[in-house]
Amino acid sequence: FNVPALQNEVVLDYAPNSSERLKLEAAIREAKSTETDIPMYIGNEEIRTGKKVAVRPPHDHQHILGYYHEGDASHVKSAIEAALAAKQGWEDMSWESRAAIFLKAADLISGPYRYKLNAATMLGQSKNAYQAEIDSACELIDFLRYNVSYLSQIYAQQPVSSKGVWNRMEYRPLEGFVYALTPFNFTAISGNLPASAALMGNVIVWKPSENQMYAANVIMEIFKAAGLPDGVINMISVDGPLAGDIIFSHPEFTGLHFTGSTAVFQAIWKNIGNNIHKYKSYPRIVGETGGKDFVLADETANVDVVATALLRGAFEYQGQKCSAASRAYIPKSLWPAVKEKLLSDLKKVKIGTVEDFGNFVNAVISEKSFDKIVSYIENAKNDPKAAIVAGGTYNKSTGYFVDPTVIEVSDPYYVSMCEEIFGPVLSVYVYEDFDEIMEIIDNTSIYALTGSVISQDRATIEKAVKRLRNAAGNFYINDKPTGAVVGQQPFGGARGSGTNDKSGSYLNLLRWVSPRTIKETF
Ligand code: NAD
Ligand code: ALA
Repeated sequence: FNVPALQNEVVLDYAPNSSERLKLEAAIREAKSTETDIPMYIGNEEIRTGKKVAVRPPHDHQHILGYYHEGDASHVKSAIEAALAAKQGWEDMSWESRAAIFLKAADLISGPYRYKLNAATMLGQSKNAYQAEIDSACELIDFLRYNVSYLSQIYAQQPVSSKGVWNRMEYRPLEGFVYALTPFNFTAISGNLPASAALMGNVIVWKPSENQMYAANVIMEIFKAAGLPDGVINMISVDGPLAGDIIFSHPEFTGLHFTGSTAVFQAIWKNIGNNIHKYKSYPRIVGETGGKDFVLADETANVDVVATALLRGAFEYQGQKCSAASRAYIPKSLWPAVKEKLLSDLKKVKIGTVEDFGNFVNAVISEKSFDKIVSYIENAKNDPKAAIVAGGTYNKSTGYFVDPTVIEVSDPYYVSMCEEIFGPVLSVYVYEDFDEIMEIIDNTSIYALTGSVISQDRATIEKAVKRLRNAAGNFYINDKPTGAVVGQQPFGGARGSGTNDKSGSYLNLLRWVSPRTIKETF
Protein backbone atom coordinates (compact mmCIF):
# COMPACT_ATOMS: atom_id res chain seq x y z
CA PHE A 1 0.00 0.00 0.00
CA ASN A 2 1.77 3.06 -1.29
CA VAL A 3 0.62 6.12 0.67
CA PRO A 4 2.37 9.48 1.13
CA ALA A 5 5.06 9.72 3.83
CA LEU A 6 3.88 11.36 7.02
CA GLN A 7 4.91 14.54 8.70
CA ASN A 8 2.87 16.70 11.09
CA GLU A 9 1.80 20.01 9.59
CA VAL A 10 4.10 22.86 10.68
CA VAL A 11 2.38 25.34 13.03
CA LEU A 12 2.50 28.94 11.77
CA ASP A 13 3.18 31.58 14.41
CA TYR A 14 1.47 34.62 12.82
CA ALA A 15 4.24 36.97 13.98
CA PRO A 16 3.36 40.66 13.62
CA ASN A 17 3.78 41.87 10.01
CA SER A 18 4.49 38.35 8.72
CA SER A 19 2.80 37.52 5.43
CA GLU A 20 0.80 34.83 7.26
CA ARG A 21 -0.48 37.39 9.76
CA LEU A 22 -1.50 39.75 6.98
CA LYS A 23 -3.34 36.95 5.16
CA LEU A 24 -5.16 35.85 8.30
CA GLU A 25 -6.14 39.43 9.12
CA ALA A 26 -7.45 39.83 5.58
CA ALA A 27 -9.48 36.61 5.95
CA ILE A 28 -10.96 37.91 9.22
CA ARG A 29 -11.91 41.20 7.57
CA GLU A 30 -13.44 39.35 4.62
CA ALA A 31 -15.45 37.08 6.93
CA LYS A 32 -16.71 40.04 8.94
CA SER A 33 -17.77 41.99 5.90
CA THR A 34 -19.96 39.16 4.56
CA GLU A 35 -23.12 37.68 6.02
CA THR A 36 -22.71 33.98 5.27
CA ASP A 37 -25.84 32.06 4.40
CA ILE A 38 -25.19 28.54 5.73
CA PRO A 39 -27.30 25.81 4.14
CA MET A 40 -27.70 22.14 4.97
CA TYR A 41 -25.90 19.89 2.48
CA ILE A 42 -28.08 16.92 1.58
CA GLY A 43 -27.19 14.84 -1.48
CA ASN A 44 -26.56 17.27 -4.33
CA GLU A 45 -28.69 19.98 -2.76
CA GLU A 46 -28.04 22.97 -0.56
CA ILE A 47 -31.15 23.30 1.58
CA ARG A 48 -32.27 26.67 2.89
CA THR A 49 -35.40 26.34 4.99
CA GLY A 50 -35.79 30.03 5.74
CA LYS A 51 -35.86 29.24 9.47
CA LYS A 52 -32.73 31.26 10.04
CA VAL A 53 -30.59 31.30 13.17
CA ALA A 54 -28.06 34.13 13.54
CA VAL A 55 -24.41 33.22 14.14
CA ARG A 56 -22.56 35.75 16.29
CA PRO A 57 -18.98 35.70 17.60
CA PRO A 58 -19.11 34.66 21.28
CA HIS A 59 -16.94 37.73 21.99
CA ASP A 60 -19.12 40.23 20.14
CA HIS A 61 -22.90 40.21 20.56
CA GLN A 62 -23.33 43.09 18.10
CA HIS A 63 -21.89 41.39 15.05
CA ILE A 64 -23.73 38.89 12.86
CA LEU A 65 -21.45 36.55 10.91
CA GLY A 66 -24.30 34.94 9.05
CA TYR A 67 -27.26 32.63 9.46
CA TYR A 68 -27.74 28.92 9.35
CA HIS A 69 -30.99 27.36 8.27
CA GLU A 70 -32.64 25.10 10.81
CA GLY A 71 -34.12 21.89 9.46
CA ASP A 72 -36.78 19.51 10.77
CA ALA A 73 -37.55 15.79 10.76
CA SER A 74 -38.02 15.73 6.97
CA HIS A 75 -34.42 16.90 6.47
CA VAL A 76 -33.06 14.18 8.74
CA LYS A 77 -34.94 11.60 6.67
CA SER A 78 -33.70 13.14 3.41
CA ALA A 79 -30.12 13.11 4.70
CA ILE A 80 -30.40 9.40 5.53
CA GLU A 81 -31.87 8.67 2.09
CA ALA A 82 -29.15 10.70 0.37
CA ALA A 83 -26.46 8.84 2.30
CA LEU A 84 -27.92 5.46 1.43
CA ALA A 85 -28.29 6.47 -2.23
CA ALA A 86 -24.60 7.39 -2.39
CA LYS A 87 -23.48 4.22 -0.62
CA GLN A 88 -22.93 1.81 -3.52
CA GLY A 89 -20.97 4.30 -5.61
CA TRP A 90 -18.76 5.25 -2.68
CA GLU A 91 -18.13 1.64 -1.71
CA ASP A 92 -17.26 0.74 -5.28
CA MET A 93 -14.74 3.55 -5.56
CA SER A 94 -11.14 2.37 -5.12
CA TRP A 95 -9.60 3.14 -1.75
CA GLU A 96 -6.97 5.19 -3.57
CA SER A 97 -9.64 7.53 -4.93
CA ARG A 98 -11.30 7.88 -1.53
CA ALA A 99 -7.91 8.59 0.01
CA ALA A 100 -7.00 11.07 -2.72
CA ILE A 101 -10.12 13.12 -1.98
CA PHE A 102 -9.22 13.50 1.71
CA LEU A 103 -5.52 14.08 0.96
CA LYS A 104 -6.58 16.83 -1.41
CA ALA A 105 -8.83 18.28 1.31
CA ALA A 106 -5.77 18.34 3.62
CA ASP A 107 -3.73 20.13 0.97
CA LEU A 108 -6.51 22.65 0.44
CA ILE A 109 -6.54 23.45 4.15
CA SER A 110 -2.76 23.60 4.23
CA GLY A 111 -2.86 26.01 1.27
CA PRO A 112 -5.69 28.21 0.03
CA TYR A 113 -8.30 27.50 2.73
CA ARG A 114 -6.04 27.80 5.77
CA TYR A 115 -6.83 31.43 6.48
CA LYS A 116 -10.53 31.18 5.75
CA LEU A 117 -10.96 28.15 8.03
CA ASN A 118 -8.83 29.66 10.79
CA ALA A 119 -10.74 32.94 10.56
CA ALA A 120 -14.02 31.01 10.79
CA THR A 121 -12.81 29.14 13.89
CA MET A 122 -11.53 32.35 15.46
CA LEU A 123 -14.73 34.29 14.88
CA GLY A 124 -17.30 31.53 15.28
CA GLN A 125 -15.79 29.84 18.33
CA SER A 126 -13.75 32.70 19.84
CA LYS A 127 -10.37 30.97 19.51
CA ASN A 128 -7.25 33.08 19.30
CA ALA A 129 -5.04 32.77 16.20
CA TYR A 130 -2.62 30.28 17.74
CA GLN A 131 -5.39 28.06 19.11
CA ALA A 132 -7.19 28.17 15.75
CA GLU A 133 -3.97 27.32 13.90
CA ILE A 134 -3.26 24.21 15.99
CA ASP A 135 -6.91 23.13 15.64
CA SER A 136 -8.52 23.96 12.33
CA ALA A 137 -5.28 23.99 10.35
CA CYS A 138 -2.71 21.58 11.80
CA GLU A 139 -4.84 19.04 13.66
CA LEU A 140 -7.41 18.71 10.90
CA ILE A 141 -4.73 18.43 8.20
CA ASP A 142 -2.92 15.81 10.28
CA PHE A 143 -6.11 13.81 10.84
CA LEU A 144 -6.90 13.76 7.13
CA ARG A 145 -3.39 12.72 6.11
CA TYR A 146 -2.66 10.26 8.93
CA ASN A 147 -6.03 8.57 8.44
CA VAL A 148 -4.86 7.48 4.99
CA SER A 149 -1.80 5.90 6.51
CA TYR A 150 -3.95 4.15 9.14
CA LEU A 151 -6.21 2.85 6.37
CA SER A 152 -3.18 1.35 4.63
CA GLN A 153 -1.97 -0.24 7.88
CA ILE A 154 -5.38 -1.80 8.47
CA TYR A 155 -5.79 -3.10 4.92
CA ALA A 156 -2.29 -4.61 5.11
CA GLN A 157 -3.25 -6.82 8.07
CA GLN A 158 -3.88 -10.17 6.41
CA PRO A 159 -4.19 -13.73 7.73
CA VAL A 160 -1.70 -16.49 7.06
CA SER A 161 -2.19 -18.66 3.97
CA SER A 162 -0.78 -22.09 3.12
CA LYS A 163 -0.15 -24.22 0.07
CA GLY A 164 -3.45 -24.74 -1.69
CA VAL A 165 -5.27 -22.19 0.47
CA TRP A 166 -5.36 -18.41 0.16
CA ASN A 167 -6.89 -16.63 3.16
CA ARG A 168 -7.86 -13.01 2.82
CA MET A 169 -9.38 -10.33 5.02
CA GLU A 170 -11.65 -7.85 3.33
CA TYR A 171 -12.18 -4.65 5.33
CA ARG A 172 -15.75 -3.87 4.31
CA PRO A 173 -17.47 -0.60 5.20
CA LEU A 174 -20.29 -0.99 7.73
CA GLU A 175 -23.68 -1.85 6.28
CA GLY A 176 -25.92 1.22 6.54
CA PHE A 177 -25.07 4.84 7.42
CA VAL A 178 -22.92 6.36 10.16
CA TYR A 179 -24.06 9.32 12.24
CA ALA A 180 -21.31 11.83 13.08
CA LEU A 181 -22.32 14.12 15.95
CA THR A 182 -19.72 16.73 16.79
CA PRO A 183 -18.98 19.32 19.51
CA PHE A 184 -18.29 23.05 19.32
CA ASN A 185 -14.79 23.16 20.71
CA PHE A 186 -12.55 21.65 18.01
CA THR A 187 -12.98 22.29 14.30
CA ALA A 188 -10.53 19.43 13.71
CA ILE A 189 -12.80 16.98 15.54
CA SER A 190 -15.79 18.18 13.54
CA GLY A 191 -14.01 17.56 10.27
CA ASN A 192 -12.44 14.29 11.34
CA LEU A 193 -15.49 12.50 12.70
CA PRO A 194 -17.34 12.37 9.38
CA ALA A 195 -14.12 12.14 7.33
CA SER A 196 -12.48 9.19 9.10
CA ALA A 197 -15.57 6.98 8.82
CA ALA A 198 -16.12 8.11 5.20
CA LEU A 199 -12.54 7.29 4.25
CA MET A 200 -13.17 3.66 5.20
CA GLY A 201 -16.03 3.58 2.68
CA ASN A 202 -18.98 4.62 4.88
CA VAL A 203 -21.66 7.18 4.13
CA ILE A 204 -22.45 9.78 6.73
CA VAL A 205 -25.11 12.00 8.21
CA TRP A 206 -23.24 14.73 10.06
CA LYS A 207 -24.75 17.09 12.63
CA PRO A 208 -22.27 19.73 13.78
CA SER A 209 -22.83 21.61 17.03
CA GLU A 210 -25.23 24.53 16.73
CA ASN A 211 -22.32 26.56 18.16
CA GLN A 212 -19.98 25.61 15.36
CA MET A 213 -22.04 25.91 12.20
CA TYR A 214 -19.83 28.71 10.87
CA ALA A 215 -16.62 26.65 10.61
CA ALA A 216 -18.56 23.49 9.72
CA ASN A 217 -19.83 25.24 6.62
CA VAL A 218 -16.25 25.93 5.49
CA ILE A 219 -15.34 22.29 6.10
CA MET A 220 -18.16 21.19 3.76
CA GLU A 221 -16.96 23.72 1.18
CA ILE A 222 -13.47 22.18 1.39
CA PHE A 223 -14.71 18.58 1.13
CA LYS A 224 -16.70 19.54 -1.96
CA ALA A 225 -13.75 21.39 -3.49
CA ALA A 226 -11.69 18.23 -2.92
CA GLY A 227 -14.16 16.23 -5.02
CA LEU A 228 -16.21 14.43 -2.36
CA PRO A 229 -19.18 12.91 -4.21
CA ASP A 230 -22.65 14.18 -3.31
CA GLY A 231 -24.37 12.30 -0.51
CA VAL A 232 -21.25 10.79 1.07
CA ILE A 233 -21.30 13.36 3.88
CA ASN A 234 -24.64 15.08 4.47
CA MET A 235 -24.54 18.01 6.87
CA ILE A 236 -27.72 18.86 8.74
CA SER A 237 -28.63 21.51 11.29
CA VAL A 238 -31.51 20.01 13.24
CA ASP A 239 -32.26 19.95 16.95
CA GLY A 240 -30.10 17.17 18.48
CA PRO A 241 -32.79 15.09 20.25
CA LEU A 242 -35.16 15.39 17.27
CA ALA A 243 -32.49 14.23 14.80
CA GLY A 244 -31.44 11.49 17.22
CA ASP A 245 -34.92 10.03 17.51
CA ILE A 246 -35.16 9.59 13.74
CA ILE A 247 -31.62 8.38 13.24
CA PHE A 248 -31.51 5.91 16.12
CA SER A 249 -34.79 4.29 15.16
CA HIS A 250 -33.71 3.73 11.54
CA PRO A 251 -32.93 0.11 10.59
CA GLU A 252 -29.91 1.19 8.50
CA PHE A 253 -28.27 3.06 11.40
CA THR A 254 -24.91 1.33 11.72
CA GLY A 255 -22.58 3.51 13.77
CA LEU A 256 -22.26 6.61 15.91
CA HIS A 257 -19.12 8.72 15.79
CA PHE A 258 -19.64 11.11 18.68
CA THR A 259 -17.64 13.69 20.54
CA GLY A 260 -19.39 15.79 23.17
CA SER A 261 -20.54 15.70 26.75
CA THR A 262 -20.90 12.56 28.83
CA ALA A 263 -24.57 13.26 29.63
CA VAL A 264 -25.54 13.52 25.97
CA PHE A 265 -23.56 10.37 25.09
CA GLN A 266 -25.27 8.42 27.85
CA ALA A 267 -28.71 9.59 26.72
CA ILE A 268 -27.91 8.58 23.15
CA TRP A 269 -26.56 5.18 24.22
CA LYS A 270 -29.87 4.49 26.00
CA ASN A 271 -31.78 5.56 22.91
CA ILE A 272 -29.71 3.19 20.76
CA GLY A 273 -30.23 0.41 23.30
CA ASN A 274 -33.98 0.87 23.20
CA ASN A 275 -33.90 0.48 19.42
CA ILE A 276 -31.42 -2.37 19.22
CA HIS A 277 -33.94 -4.86 17.84
CA LYS A 278 -34.56 -2.64 14.81
CA TYR A 279 -31.04 -2.63 13.37
CA LYS A 280 -29.57 -4.97 10.76
CA SER A 281 -26.25 -5.07 12.67
CA TYR A 282 -25.12 -4.13 16.14
CA PRO A 283 -24.07 -0.52 15.71
CA ARG A 284 -20.55 0.68 16.39
CA ILE A 285 -20.66 3.25 19.16
CA VAL A 286 -17.60 5.45 19.40
CA GLY A 287 -17.78 8.34 21.86
CA GLU A 288 -15.17 10.76 23.14
CA THR A 289 -16.79 12.53 26.07
CA GLY A 290 -16.14 14.78 29.07
CA GLY A 291 -13.06 15.29 31.17
CA LYS A 292 -11.92 16.50 34.58
CA ASP A 293 -8.22 16.52 33.92
CA PHE A 294 -5.59 16.80 36.61
CA VAL A 295 -2.09 18.06 37.25
CA LEU A 296 -0.26 16.39 40.14
CA ALA A 297 3.03 17.88 41.29
CA ASP A 298 5.38 16.49 43.91
CA GLU A 299 7.88 18.27 46.15
CA THR A 300 10.70 17.93 43.61
CA ALA A 301 8.72 19.53 40.79
CA ASN A 302 10.13 22.52 38.99
CA VAL A 303 7.98 25.51 39.99
CA ASP A 304 8.08 27.12 36.54
CA VAL A 305 7.07 23.88 34.86
CA VAL A 306 4.11 23.51 37.24
CA ALA A 307 2.96 27.12 36.86
CA THR A 308 3.18 26.95 33.06
CA ALA A 309 1.36 23.61 32.95
CA LEU A 310 -1.42 25.16 35.03
CA LEU A 311 -1.65 28.42 33.15
CA ARG A 312 -1.56 26.91 29.67
CA GLY A 313 -3.39 23.71 30.60
CA ALA A 314 -6.24 25.45 32.39
CA PHE A 315 -6.72 28.68 30.46
CA GLU A 316 -5.82 28.15 26.81
CA TYR A 317 -9.04 28.32 24.82
CA GLN A 318 -10.76 29.44 28.03
CA GLY A 319 -10.50 25.96 29.51
CA GLN A 320 -12.90 24.64 26.88
CA LYS A 321 -10.73 21.69 25.90
CA CYS A 322 -11.81 18.24 26.96
CA SER A 323 -8.17 17.87 28.05
CA ALA A 324 -8.01 21.13 30.05
CA ALA A 325 -6.26 21.04 33.43
CA SER A 326 -9.17 21.81 35.71
CA ARG A 327 -7.92 20.37 39.01
CA ALA A 328 -4.43 20.52 40.50
CA TYR A 329 -2.83 18.78 43.46
CA ILE A 330 0.20 20.67 44.76
CA PRO A 331 2.31 19.75 47.82
CA LYS A 332 2.18 22.13 50.76
CA SER A 333 5.91 22.88 50.50
CA LEU A 334 5.61 23.94 46.83
CA TRP A 335 2.29 25.80 46.77
CA PRO A 336 3.52 29.25 47.96
CA ALA A 337 6.07 29.41 45.12
CA VAL A 338 3.72 27.96 42.51
CA LYS A 339 0.93 30.29 43.59
CA GLU A 340 3.18 33.35 43.42
CA LYS A 341 4.42 32.44 39.93
CA LEU A 342 0.96 31.50 38.63
CA LEU A 343 -0.70 34.66 39.93
CA SER A 344 2.10 36.84 38.64
CA ASP A 345 1.91 35.21 35.18
CA LEU A 346 -1.87 35.55 35.19
CA LYS A 347 -1.53 39.31 35.70
CA LYS A 348 0.17 39.45 32.27
CA VAL A 349 -2.60 37.53 30.52
CA LYS A 350 -4.68 39.70 28.21
CA ILE A 351 -8.37 39.03 27.79
CA GLY A 352 -10.56 40.19 24.94
CA THR A 353 -11.62 39.67 21.36
CA VAL A 354 -9.78 37.40 18.91
CA GLU A 355 -9.28 40.24 16.45
CA ASP A 356 -6.59 41.59 18.81
CA PHE A 357 -3.90 38.91 18.44
CA GLY A 358 -2.38 39.86 21.80
CA ASN A 359 -5.34 38.46 23.71
CA PHE A 360 -4.61 35.08 25.27
CA VAL A 361 -8.07 34.49 26.74
CA ASN A 362 -11.22 35.15 24.72
CA ALA A 363 -14.91 34.59 25.30
CA VAL A 364 -16.60 31.33 26.27
CA ILE A 365 -18.88 29.79 23.69
CA SER A 366 -22.42 30.71 24.73
CA GLU A 367 -24.67 32.21 27.34
CA LYS A 368 -25.59 28.74 28.60
CA SER A 369 -21.93 27.93 29.08
CA PHE A 370 -21.22 31.35 30.66
CA ASP A 371 -24.06 30.88 33.17
CA LYS A 372 -22.87 27.40 34.09
CA ILE A 373 -19.28 28.59 34.68
CA VAL A 374 -20.49 31.56 36.71
CA SER A 375 -22.60 29.29 38.92
CA TYR A 376 -19.47 27.37 39.96
CA ILE A 377 -17.63 30.63 40.66
CA GLU A 378 -20.51 31.96 42.77
CA ASN A 379 -20.77 28.66 44.59
CA ALA A 380 -17.06 28.95 45.47
CA LYS A 381 -17.55 32.50 46.74
CA ASN A 382 -20.22 31.26 49.11
CA ASP A 383 -18.61 28.05 50.34
CA PRO A 384 -16.15 28.02 53.25
CA LYS A 385 -14.34 25.09 51.62
CA ALA A 386 -13.32 27.30 48.69
CA ALA A 387 -11.37 30.54 48.31
CA ILE A 388 -10.97 32.44 45.07
CA VAL A 389 -7.31 33.40 44.73
CA ALA A 390 -7.45 34.82 41.18
CA GLY A 391 -10.21 36.00 38.88
CA GLY A 392 -13.75 35.26 39.99
CA THR A 393 -15.01 38.08 37.79
CA TYR A 394 -17.02 37.93 34.59
CA ASN A 395 -18.97 40.12 32.22
CA LYS A 396 -21.40 39.29 29.43
CA SER A 397 -22.32 42.78 28.30
CA THR A 398 -20.36 42.70 25.02
CA GLY A 399 -19.33 39.05 24.85
CA TYR A 400 -19.21 36.03 27.17
CA PHE A 401 -16.06 36.89 29.11
CA VAL A 402 -14.99 35.02 32.23
CA ASP A 403 -11.66 35.98 33.78
CA PRO A 404 -9.22 33.13 34.44
CA THR A 405 -10.18 31.95 37.90
CA VAL A 406 -8.21 29.95 40.45
CA ILE A 407 -10.07 28.41 43.37
CA GLU A 408 -8.11 27.02 46.31
CA VAL A 409 -10.13 24.34 48.05
CA SER A 410 -9.73 22.74 51.44
CA ASP A 411 -11.68 19.61 50.48
CA PRO A 412 -10.43 17.45 47.59
CA TYR A 413 -14.02 16.25 47.08
CA TYR A 414 -15.35 19.81 46.69
CA VAL A 415 -17.68 20.11 43.69
CA SER A 416 -15.29 22.09 41.48
CA MET A 417 -12.64 19.36 41.97
CA CYS A 418 -14.99 16.70 40.63
CA GLU A 419 -17.38 18.10 38.01
CA GLU A 420 -16.59 19.23 34.47
CA ILE A 421 -17.06 23.01 34.35
CA PHE A 422 -15.67 23.52 30.84
CA GLY A 423 -14.46 27.06 31.34
CA PRO A 424 -11.45 29.03 32.62
CA VAL A 425 -11.67 27.76 36.19
CA LEU A 426 -8.84 25.88 37.88
CA SER A 427 -9.32 24.31 41.31
CA VAL A 428 -6.27 23.63 43.46
CA TYR A 429 -6.00 21.34 46.46
CA VAL A 430 -2.87 21.60 48.59
CA TYR A 431 -1.92 18.18 49.90
CA GLU A 432 0.44 16.71 52.47
CA ASP A 433 0.78 13.02 51.59
CA PHE A 434 1.60 11.85 48.05
CA ASP A 435 0.27 8.28 48.38
CA GLU A 436 -2.97 9.50 49.91
CA ILE A 437 -3.49 12.11 47.20
CA MET A 438 -3.09 9.52 44.47
CA GLU A 439 -5.89 7.50 46.12
CA ILE A 440 -8.09 10.60 46.14
CA ILE A 441 -7.31 11.47 42.52
CA ASP A 442 -8.25 7.98 41.43
CA ASN A 443 -11.43 8.03 43.54
CA THR A 444 -12.54 11.34 42.04
CA SER A 445 -11.69 10.37 38.47
CA ILE A 446 -15.21 9.67 37.32
CA TYR A 447 -13.82 10.95 34.06
CA ALA A 448 -10.47 9.58 32.93
CA LEU A 449 -9.29 11.56 29.94
CA THR A 450 -5.98 13.32 30.61
CA GLY A 451 -3.70 13.91 33.56
CA SER A 452 -0.12 14.82 34.26
CA VAL A 453 2.48 14.26 36.92
CA ILE A 454 5.22 16.81 37.42
CA SER A 455 8.27 15.62 39.31
CA GLN A 456 12.03 15.31 39.04
CA ASP A 457 12.05 12.07 40.98
CA ARG A 458 11.93 8.88 38.93
CA ALA A 459 10.45 6.84 41.80
CA THR A 460 7.54 9.30 42.15
CA ILE A 461 6.94 9.26 38.42
CA GLU A 462 6.88 5.44 38.44
CA LYS A 463 4.45 5.42 41.35
CA ALA A 464 2.09 7.87 39.66
CA VAL A 465 2.24 6.07 36.32
CA LYS A 466 1.22 2.83 38.09
CA ARG A 467 -1.27 4.09 40.68
CA LEU A 468 -3.09 6.41 38.27
CA ARG A 469 -3.16 3.83 35.50
CA ASN A 470 -6.93 4.04 35.05
CA ALA A 471 -7.37 7.74 35.86
CA ALA A 472 -6.34 9.01 32.42
CA GLY A 473 -6.23 7.69 28.85
CA ASN A 474 -3.56 10.28 28.03
CA PHE A 475 -0.95 10.61 30.76
CA TYR A 476 1.73 13.29 30.61
CA ILE A 477 5.00 13.40 32.54
CA ASN A 478 6.39 16.89 33.20
CA ASP A 479 4.01 18.63 30.83
CA LYS A 480 0.52 20.12 30.70
CA PRO A 481 -2.26 17.60 30.01
CA THR A 482 -3.40 19.28 26.76
CA GLY A 483 -2.15 19.44 23.20
CA ALA A 484 -2.14 15.85 21.94
CA VAL A 485 -0.77 15.72 18.40
CA VAL A 486 -2.20 13.36 15.77
CA GLY A 487 0.09 10.38 15.25
CA GLN A 488 2.19 11.31 18.29
CA GLN A 489 -0.21 11.04 21.23
CA PRO A 490 -3.27 8.99 20.19
CA PHE A 491 -6.12 10.57 22.13
CA GLY A 492 -9.00 9.32 24.26
CA GLY A 493 -10.05 8.22 27.71
CA ALA A 494 -12.11 5.55 29.42
CA ARG A 495 -14.51 5.69 32.42
CA GLY A 496 -16.87 8.68 31.89
CA SER A 497 -14.59 10.06 29.17
CA GLY A 498 -15.59 7.71 26.42
CA THR A 499 -15.02 4.47 24.61
CA ASN A 500 -11.27 5.20 24.30
CA ASP A 501 -11.00 4.40 20.61
CA LYS A 502 -8.00 6.71 20.33
CA SER A 503 -8.46 9.33 17.67
CA GLY A 504 -5.22 10.04 15.84
CA SER A 505 -4.41 6.34 15.58
CA TYR A 506 -5.40 3.30 13.47
CA LEU A 507 -7.56 2.10 16.41
CA ASN A 508 -10.24 4.66 15.61
CA LEU A 509 -10.34 3.77 11.92
CA LEU A 510 -10.64 0.10 12.80
CA ARG A 511 -14.10 0.83 14.22
CA TRP A 512 -15.38 1.88 10.80
CA VAL A 513 -14.88 -1.44 9.04
CA SER A 514 -16.62 -4.78 9.27
CA PRO A 515 -14.01 -7.37 8.26
CA ARG A 516 -14.92 -10.37 6.12
CA THR A 517 -12.67 -13.43 6.05
CA ILE A 518 -12.39 -15.17 2.69
CA LYS A 519 -10.85 -18.62 2.29
CA GLU A 520 -10.12 -19.84 -1.24
CA THR A 521 -9.00 -23.41 -1.82
CA PHE A 522 -7.16 -24.39 -5.00
P1 NAD B 1 -22.65 18.56 23.73
O1 NAD B 1 -22.72 17.20 24.31
O2 NAD B 1 -23.50 19.62 24.29
O3 NAD B 1 -22.99 18.50 22.15
C1 NAD B 1 -22.38 17.56 21.29
C2 NAD B 1 -23.27 17.36 20.08
O4 NAD B 1 -24.47 16.70 20.50
C3 NAD B 1 -23.73 18.66 19.43
O5 NAD B 1 -23.79 18.49 18.02
C4 NAD B 1 -25.11 18.89 20.01
O6 NAD B 1 -25.94 19.65 19.17
C5 NAD B 1 -25.62 17.47 20.14
N1 NAD B 1 -26.61 17.28 21.20
C6 NAD B 1 -26.75 18.00 22.33
N2 NAD B 1 -27.73 17.48 23.10
C7 NAD B 1 -28.21 16.41 22.43
C8 NAD B 1 -29.21 15.44 22.71
N3 NAD B 1 -29.91 15.50 23.85
N4 NAD B 1 -29.43 14.46 21.82
C9 NAD B 1 -28.71 14.40 20.67
N5 NAD B 1 -27.76 15.29 20.34
C10 NAD B 1 -27.50 16.28 21.22
O7 NAD B 1 -21.10 18.98 23.77
P2 NAD B 1 -20.41 20.38 23.44
O8 NAD B 1 -20.81 21.37 24.47
O9 NAD B 1 -20.60 20.73 22.01
O10 NAD B 1 -18.88 20.00 23.63
C11 NAD B 1 -18.26 20.00 24.87
C12 NAD B 1 -18.19 18.63 25.46
O11 NAD B 1 -17.48 17.76 24.57
C13 NAD B 1 -17.40 18.59 26.77
O12 NAD B 1 -18.03 17.72 27.67
C14 NAD B 1 -16.04 18.04 26.34
O13 NAD B 1 -15.32 17.41 27.37
C15 NAD B 1 -16.43 17.09 25.27
N6 NAD B 1 -15.32 16.82 24.36
C16 NAD B 1 -14.67 15.65 24.49
C17 NAD B 1 -13.58 15.37 23.68
C18 NAD B 1 -12.82 14.10 23.82
O14 NAD B 1 -11.99 13.82 22.97
N7 NAD B 1 -13.05 13.31 24.86
C19 NAD B 1 -13.17 16.30 22.72
C20 NAD B 1 -13.90 17.49 22.61
C21 NAD B 1 -14.97 17.75 23.43
N1 ALA C 1 -5.87 17.53 20.86
C1 ALA C 1 -6.60 18.16 21.91
C2 ALA C 1 -5.83 18.19 23.18
O1 ALA C 1 -5.14 17.25 23.48
C3 ALA C 1 -7.93 17.47 22.13
O2 ALA C 1 -5.93 19.13 23.89
